[in-house]
This record gives sequence, C-alpha cells and structure tokens, in this order.
Amino acid sequence: MAQFKELIFSGMQPTGNLHLGNYLGAMIRWIELQKTKDCIYCVVDLHAITVAQEPALLKKAIREVTAAYIAAGLDPKKSIIFNQSQVSGHAELAWVVNCVARLGWLNRMTQFKEKAGKDRENASVGLYAYPDLMAADILLYRATHVPVGEDQKQHLELTRDVAQKFNNDFAASIAENGFGDAFFPLPEPLIQGPATRVMSLRDGSKKMSKSDPSDYSRINLTDDADTIAQKVRKAKTDPEPLPSEVEGLKTRPEAENLVAIYAALTDATAENVLRDHGGSQFSGFKTALVDVAVAKLAPIADEMRRLMADPAHIDAVLADGSARARVLAQPTIDAVKDIVGFVRS
Ligand code: TYM
Repeated sequence: MAQFKELIFSGMQPTGNLHLGNYLGAMIRWIELQKTKDCIYCVVDLHAITVAQEPALLKKAIREVTAAYIAAGLDPKKSIIFNQSQVSGHAELAWVVNCVARLGWLNRMTQFKEKAGKDRENASVGLYAYPDLMAADILLYRATHVPVGEDQKQHLELTRDVAQKFNNDFAASIAENGFGDAFFPLPEPLIQGPATRVMSLRDGSKKMSKSDPSDYSRINLTDDADTIAQKVRKAKTDPEPLPSEVEGLKTRPEAENLVAIYAALTDATAENVLRDHGGSQFSGFKTALVDVAVAKLAPIADEMRRLMADPAHIDAVLADGSARARVLAQPTIDAVKDIVGFVRS
C-alpha cells in the first residue's frame, strides 16, 4: 500500500450552539493533535444546509463556530481553519464520491434514519447524500486521521469504503497516472478519551445534541458560569452515592455520564475520578463538577464573545484558511479528474 503523509482533518456543523459533547468528544482532541501534527479544521457549512437554515443565522453560526475553535485553543496560524463552502473542491469531489458510493451503503446510515425520522420522503436529497460529502471532505486532502465523537464512526467507515472502492475501480488509471497502488488513504477514525459519547443531562440514554428541545439537556459553549452551574445542579441523577469502581457505573447511565464529563474536563480517567469521589453523594460531586466545568468553559465563552464582536477578524481567518486549503485541495481535484478520465486544460 502506498505511503501517505500524516494529516488530520475534522469538522463541525454550524447549526445551533456548539455544546459540551462537541467540545469533549472532538475539540479537546483537535487541540492536542495540533501540537504535533498538521491539522485542517473545517466549519462544514455545506452540511448545514441539508436541513433548512435561515441565511442570516447561518452566517452568524459559521462565525460563531470559528470563534469557538479559536477560543477553545485552535491556532489559525498553525492549523488550517476555514469554512467548507469557500473551497469548491468539496462539492466537486462529492459528486465523484456520489458515483462511487452505493445506494445500499447510504441506506444503512443510522444518522440519516434518525434525522429524517418518519417523514423520510420529505427529507432533502442532500441529507441522504451527506455521508458522501463528508467522505469527500476527508479525501479531498487525502487525510489519514479523523478525530471525531463516537456518533461519526459509521460515516468514517463509509469514507474508508469509498476510498477503497475508488482505489480498486480505478487501479489501472491510478498506476498509469503515477500514483502507485492507491490514490486515497483509508482514513483512520480517532475516537478517543473518556467522553466520546456525551449524553443528555436530562436523560442518560440520549446523546447530548443541539437539536434536543430542552436547553437543560446540554451545556452550550456560550453558557456563562451561572447557567453552567444551574444545568449541572439540575442534571438527572439516581439516589445512590457514586461507586468506587467503574464496574458500578454500568447500569447507571446518568452517573456514568457525569463521571465521564468530569474525567474529560480534568484530563483524567473515570477510574481516577472514582478514586477521588467514590462514595460521594451527587450533591457534593456536582459542586466539584461545576467548579471544573466553569473553570474550563467560562473562559472559552468569554473569548468567544470577544471574538464575535469583531466579525471582520473572523472572516479574515476564514479567508486565509480557505486560501491555504484550496492550495492543498487543487492537486487532488486535478489528479481525480485525470484518474477518472476527464479532459482538463
Ligand atoms: P457534528 O457537527 O454533529 O459534531 C461535531 C463533532 O462533535 C462530536 N459530537 C459528540 N461527541 C461526543 N458526544 C456527543 N454528544 C457529541 N455530539 C457531537 C461529533 O462526533 C463530531 O466529531 N458530520 C459531522 C461533521 C463533518 C465531519 C466531516 C467530521 C463533516 N465533514 C469530515 C469529520 C470529518 C457532524 O455532523 O458533526
């Protein structure tokens, strides 16, 4: 198999507020990876319009997600930070991916089924083809590693299937064009840390999500200290004290979730947290959790507010990132055209 340069790619949708799940499931890893790897972090606005968006709010959300990236610690000088729609290669490659991926593969996507719900006939074609666009996002840069939360695992598997099928279907042309035995790497998902699936604060069996109608189900990255404290105090729990061993969390989803959140916020493991807090009542543990959550998240919210006051600066970051992304994307688009058999001048 050909050798590929190590490159990290990931993205978030600019729809609604970013929340603790986005932060702990993905962004914390992104910041860590940025220290030692080449990274591209995208604001995936083309994905956002797979469901209806109010144009003015979409613009604001794109800037807000960018502000969150920077406020959380991503460095736009070091990593490439940009919004997807400014690099036309994403949409261009997505078409080729549409022609490689099979209907049967997309039919298996659980996230489409959840999002489309009962009114499937009325879902946009974009929502259905969304995993193909996501595959194109990653393959456009021939990225090798993709840090995401647990819920994106199936989409990453599809991305690998697309890469593999393209490499197989066009094997002869790939070799003729000088790319050896494979053009696309099979990107590895990086699903790591204690909080790869942060659950709702109101129901430990449901994922924390932007679309939950209850704002108390999630901590938003824009929440101030008082709001964070209130949400943690109101989080659903059970009447038992915390166990001392991780085993004891198995049948207690709400307790397990709060411990995982605490662990991720303090860069510890669930074992460490239970060593310190095993036997505590939830009232005491929640006070400790409020302290660590506020210490970590309130400065991010403050910095986001500061950045949002200067949208021109955010737009300049996105313009610079997009220009750098385009330079990396173009050779892939050119090569794919040659491999597929298009004539280009
Ligand atoms: P999105 O915008 O829904 O979520 C962004 C990231 O946050 C993670 N995440 C969570 N992690 C843990 N617990 C949760 N409750 C939780 N909720 C969200 C997601 O796993 C994700 O890593 N399709 C993607 C965006 C995307 C993308 C890509 C990602 C488009 N192209 C290419 C990677 C590579 C999405 O909708 O993520």
